[in-house]
Amino acid sequence: MIEIDDLAVASATPAVHAVGLTKRYGSLVAVDDLHLEVPSGSIFGLIGPNGAGKSTTFAMMASLLSPTSGSLRVMGVDPADDPASLRRRLGYMPDALGVYDNLRVVEYLEFFAASYRVPRRQWPRLVDELLELVELTVKRNSMVNDLSRGMKQRLSLARSLVHDPDLLVLDEPASGLDPRARVELRDLLRGLNAMGKTIIISSHILAELEEVCSHVAIMEAGRLLASGPPRQILDQLGGSRTVRARFADGTSETFVVASSDEQTALLRRLVVDEERRVVEFVEESGGLEQLFLTVTQGVVQ
Ligand SMILES: Nc1ncnc2c1ncn2[C@@H]1O[C@H](COP(=O)(O)OP(=O)(O)O)[C@@H](O)[C@H]1O
Ligand SMILES: [Mg+2]
Repeated sequence: MIEIDDLAVASATPAVHAVGLTKRYGSLVAVDDLHLEVPSGSIFGLIGPNGAGKSTTFAMMASLLSPTSGSLRVMGVDPADDPASLRRRLGYMPDALGVYDNLRVVEYLEFFAASYRVPRRQWPRLVDELLELVELTVKRNSMVNDLSRGMKQRLSLARSLVHDPDLLVLDEPASGLDPRARVELRDLLRGLNAMGKTIIISSHILAELEEVCSHVAIMEAGRLLASGPPRQILDQLGGSRTVRARFADGTSETFVVASSDEQTALLRRLVVDEERRVVEFVEESGGLEQLFLTVTQGVVQ
């Protein structure tokens, strides 16, 4: 079934369109013939183990690295043709913050505001708003190097937002965060998406992306293994999932289904045919985790 929202997304220029995108480092093929379409308005997760080629792909999207071959369009622009105009609309969060000696949190954000040519009179308000958004207001005068890992990640996210970009490319933003900080990050990403920003996010931890992403792509050793809405991929690959039904009498049962259609049919059977009073019908977590284990070969690096 096609939803109205899907039609609206499908009609817009894709946020990213890669055709045969390839990046070689000597004989090593870091990104290998990648075909990818990131719908505008989506929260798109790029998932893969270490060395899969996620950071290399992101650096090409952000115009920081040129492809060896293939074509790439980011919001309709070829990053190699017009990096300046692209960077005005794209916020990139690298996988590491880098070292900033003797720089305070406020100065750090002002530095990036200046780099993106935000008029100086707008800085105070911009910095206040960003610090509030990532909940670092109390740390505004702290030294960047003294922040905890989670705070540095949040500061880095704030930095990627200084020029109010339409597209965010976030390289493993949740790495090193504790569970609470991860939940907060997810909420923040949802909020930014609701403001109209397309978000591309990478992770080697699936549980991080399962809930928040409308689309995912799974990569391993430079190659794309699967992409699409998580549910659709799960169906295509015939991955089974476990569903738990709880009934009004307090009992519960689990069922294994092979597709979304089967899951719908199961619910109908329970409620309509068998007239059972279902009070809860939930998929046990781990659907995407299971999918990942199914499609990747488990190259450990
Ligand atoms: N500058 C580089 N020179 C040589 N090899 C690189 C370079 N950057 C990345 N690689 C290699 O490319 C592959 C993909 O790396 P990367 O994109 O960082 O993967 P991921 O972000 O998924 O962990 C790895 O094998 C990595 O060692
Ligand atoms: Mg990486």
